[in-house]
Amino acid sequence: MNLSARTVALTLAGVIPGVALALAAARVAPTATISLPVPEARAASSEGAGNANRQAIGMSGCLAAACHGAPAGKVLNGERGIDCWQSSGSCWAAADPHTAAYSLLTDNPRRPLKITAAKIMAKYAPGKKATEDARCLACHTNPALAREELIPDANALVLREQGVSCEACHGNASVWLQPHTAWKGDRAKVYADTGMKPLYDLGERALACAGCHVGAPAENGLPVRDMNHDMIAAGHPRLNFDFAEYQRRLPQHWQEKDRTKSSYSPIVPNEAKVWFVGRVAHAEAACKLLEDRAKRSLDANEHRTPWPEFAEFNCASCHHNLRIPGKSEKYGDWRKSSEYLGERPIGVPPWQMIWPLTSAAGIESPKRDQALLKTVVLAMESPRPAKADKAQGVAKTTGEQAGNLRRELVSQPGEQVEARARAFFPRGALNLPEWDSATQVFFGLAALEYARGKPSDTVVKKYRSGVTAFRDQDWDRLESAFKAIHEK
Ligand code: HEC
Ligand code: HEC
Ligand code: HEC
Ligand code: HEC
Repeated sequence: MNLSARTVALTLAGVIPGVALALAAARVAPTATISLPVPEARAASSEGAGNANRQAIGMSGCLAAACHGAPAGKVLNGERGIDCWQSSGSCWAAADPHTAAYSLLTDNPRRPLKITAAKIMAKYAPGKKATEDARCLACHTNPALAREELIPDANALVLREQGVSCEACHGNASVWLQPHTAWKGDRAKVYADTGMKPLYDLGERALACAGCHVGAPAENGLPVRDMNHDMIAAGHPRLNFDFAEYQRRLPQHWQEKDRTKSSYSPIVPNEAKVWFVGRVAHAEAACKLLEDRAKRSLDANEHRTPWPEFAEFNCASCHHNLRIPGKSEKYGDWRKSSEYLGERPIGVPPWQMIWPLTSAAGIESPKRDQALLKTVVLAMESPRPAKADKAQGVAKTTGEQAGNLRRELVSQPGEQVEARARAFFPRGALNLPEWDSATQVFFGLAALEYARGKPSDTVVKKYRSGVTAFRDQDWDRLESAFKAIHEK
């Protein structure tokens, strides 16, 4: 087998959602009285949040003009005032990439694709339709509706077709729908009691996204969400999540406010804090997934989980042609370079890059043995990767540590977290010899730039061109984008 000859399509960043204003004009202005619509579809019998009473009701329950279906023109223009909630649903329906999520599994995808679900399935699970496979549905719709026993349910199908809609992020609504128009008392408590997800908490929000954009074990009645090497090799784009970057790319349908106070005050989150909290939540999700993969691989009834799972490692360590095209002279040796190797034995594939929780090639900090995830990294990066039972234990402990750090960061003021984040970044010239490290550092630098205030149009343009350079694997364009955003 000659890996160096293979073409590996690394889809590093997807489509920037086009903003459709069509829906905006169509609706009547909201009135002050709120009457709750009776959901058209019968609630699907789904346990979702681990409670049989919490059922998915679908988005028609949210989109009435008097609720969250008011014209979205202002919100889509970036004007988010105290009345933003009235247009949240229309904003999502008009412009959010998640509206297309389910359609990607069908023969009628709502956006142009590089690869179709049918092609992926032909290699991954021949004879099975993606729309009937829980392993695909789990991320492409409300995961609570992807449980095996709901797959043949006609009503659940109607709701699944709505894609990653309201309840996929906010939680199944049957219990909170009625009371949420007049919350009283402690937010965290009423959310927990009714099954509404506490997305006002930046860390919980990042974890909610990571459930699909990084992956998650089967828990609370939700099926496993696992983008493994089998799916990637069958053609699925690899997932390249950065919470700060992805959140900026969504058409934001909410005003950021401190929902823990009874009288809301709008807040402007510090983008460096968003980035750092997002990285830590990413690490936490990755550790939980690793723990689960190890556990499944030891399960005698589970035949589909290999050990070690290749998607745990830096893709470029095995796939040679990720080398910078035409630059083999300048960068060809990076795999053997000291920044990349550190104390890692030569020939051992490095674990996935979650900088700055792991070290990255080409930058000084953190060192391999000082990084937060060092125990996982050392276990996975030994000549024989940790046995599954050992990896399971190490990943569990490290995931819990990441969870503690996430909560600590969320509770700290923005400037303080920003200062902690800035300390990781190199000052002088950047030497980033491989794509995965470069991606991570690039997203981080962009977050710092945004934290200083909205960057100038020129910088944003450069930055966007850097993001697409990852997709095209255009190293020159990437270097030039780095120069624009790197601290002078
Ligand atoms: C239930 C699973 C799920 C959850 C939860 C989820 N996403 Fe997604 N997301 C998807 C899927 C599937 C797609 C692909 C849709 C497409 O490309 O049309 C996607 C696409 C996106 C895109 C567009 C990708 C691109 O390359 O432009 C962004 C941005 C995004 N998600 C951000 C987020 C953020 C931020 C959160 C959390 C607030 C989140 N997602 C939560 C499943 C999910
Ligand atoms: C862990 C979550 C997850 C799982 C599991 C998953 N997907 Fe996806 N899928 C995504 C996300 C997120 C995207 C968008 C990726 C991006 O834009 O970067 C996506 C994108 C796609 C696309 C668009 C590809 C393109 O060319 O743009 C197709 C088709 C697809 N998925 C099909 C499938 C099929 C078939 C399965 C089951 C074998 C599956 N997905 C399983 C999360 C998932
Ligand atoms: C990809 C995840 C995601 C999806 C899908 C989603 N939301 Fe949200 N929504 C969020 C996040 C994150 C927030 C901010 C939460 C907070 O501050 O408490 C939010 C906030 C809101 C708010 C509060 C607005 C404000 O300014 O106070 C409303 C209302 C809302 N969403 C309605 C909806 C509706 C209706 C849908 C479906 C049509 C929907 N959301 C789909 C992630 C999502
Ligand atoms: C430990 C080594 C290893 C790692 C790490 C690894 N792969 Fe692979 N990959 C392989 C092998 C071996 C094959 C099978 C080659 C064959 O089919 O002959 C393969 C096949 C593939 C294919 C199918 C190629 C084709 O031409 O059919 C793709 C795409 C792919 N890998 C992407 C990735 C991505 C993306 C990552 C990182 C998330 C990754 N790989 C990590 C070893 C690895």
